[in-house]
Amino acid sequence: MALLTKAPRGTQDILTKDSYKWKFIETVALETSALFGFKEIRTPTFEHTELFCRSVGDTTDVVQKEMYTFTDKGDRSITLKPEGTAGAVRAALENGLLNDALPLKVSYLTSCFRYEKPQAGRLREFHQFGVEMLGSQSPAADAEVIGLANEIFKVLQLKNLTLEINSIGCPECRAKYHTALKEYFEIKKSELCETCLGRLQTNPMRILDCKSAVCSAIAKEAPIVLDYICEECSEHFDGVKKRLDLMGVEYTVNPRIVRGLDYYTKTVFEFISNEIGAQGTVCGGGRYDGLVEHLGGQKTPGLGFAMGLERLLLLMANQGTELPKPRDCELYIASIGEQASLKASELTAKLRSEGFFIECDTMGRSVKAQMKYADKIGAKMSMVLGDSEIESGKANIKDMESGEIKQIDLDGDLMDVLYETGLERATKELEQKMGDMDLSDLLN
Ligand code: HAM
Repeated sequence: MALLTKAPRGTQDILTKDSYKWKFIETVALETSALFGFKEIRTPTFEHTELFCRSVGDTTDVVQKEMYTFTDKGDRSITLKPEGTAGAVRAALENGLLNDALPLKVSYLTSCFRYEKPQAGRLREFHQFGVEMLGSQSPAADAEVIGLANEIFKVLQLKNLTLEINSIGCPECRAKYHTALKEYFEIKKSELCETCLGRLQTNPMRILDCKSAVCSAIAKEAPIVLDYICEECSEHFDGVKKRLDLMGVEYTVNPRIVRGLDYYTKTVFEFISNEIGAQGTVCGGGRYDGLVEHLGGQKTPGLGFAMGLERLLLLMANQGTELPKPRDCELYIASIGEQASLKASELTAKLRSEGFFIECDTMGRSVKAQMKYADKIGAKMSMVLGDSEIESGKANIKDMESGEIKQIDLDGDLMDVLYETGLERATKELEQKMGDMDLSDLLN
């Protein structure tokens, strides 16, 4: 039988050497959002296909070309979520969350699935951290959501990210803009790809984010949406910019950003890096004031963003960001013989229940092999138990780094030694950190 050792194209395993980095980013994102009042929501990995057709939009690349859609055994059309917003809004409506205090603020971590051509920073299964805020039309909400993304990047110590913002107006300004786009693309009709020919009739704005080289070259000269937005949308955009200025959030207005999903209205934004190759958008978001109504709810404005965790990690790796390493094993208890092995299991359980990270032999290996293993896993201390140690109740505990050996009472001061050395190590690490720190860091 052939070995099944290859994961599907565009997917990746997150191995133990990296999973702590994911956990760190996820924790920072969730905890920073919590300070802004966002609480975590978890929604299903798959939804009815119709949900994405209606929200993301059936003229988008995502819906037309990239969804993982299948018919289940009950003959329903099901789609693996290509993004997190639609599911979060569906869940808010289904569970009556909009009847509680508004704005509703939710955050989420989710796998997303898009059938795209894989490359660095572009996968078929990728992961997003996102937030959605429902119920506020005020530009203060836009500034708050953009400010939150900015704050997460600050806590993660990411450098050289640029924030680009734009307003794509409301349905009224959009209608005028569509007319202008139709006029522009009509002249170049013969050069457009087949998908965009269809879009020319149904949703010409989608031609602007077509990935084909010819269409995107033509789109570069197309009219820009900012020239068509109404007074109310323009005032709203000014309100967002004013607040970002006051908050000290730097941005540039990029009138060419339209985003690739249909639900957006008014403010749209992207955080972009030029250090991770062609897929430089680390975070994207915006307002979607018509979405709730479009999905069958009462007219309720909304907005949010999502950041791609793979792209964040790529950027952090490129910038050499130091992430806190997971804890190492504090004591490895090696044993020789059955009686000592039993004692090792007993001691291990007792010390773990006190919160220490302890390992002992579970492979029945020789003491030499056990010590080799202790070294490999980076155990801070080790101890060997044999018949004489069990009889005397005393054993030697060895500091694996310095080689220093101390004799301890197994049932007495072993715990004290672990506490003391743990404390000593933490103090040393802190001193080292303080030594490395520029005093001006403390004053800032
Ligand atoms: P999006 O721009 O389609 O927006 O995706 C958000 C982020 O997900 C992107 O900026 C990127 O970092 C990451 N991403 C997208 N596709 C891939 C891929 N194939 N591989 C790796 N990373 C990827 C949304 O999904 C909206 N739901 C965001 C939003 C929330 N708007 C309002 N609320």
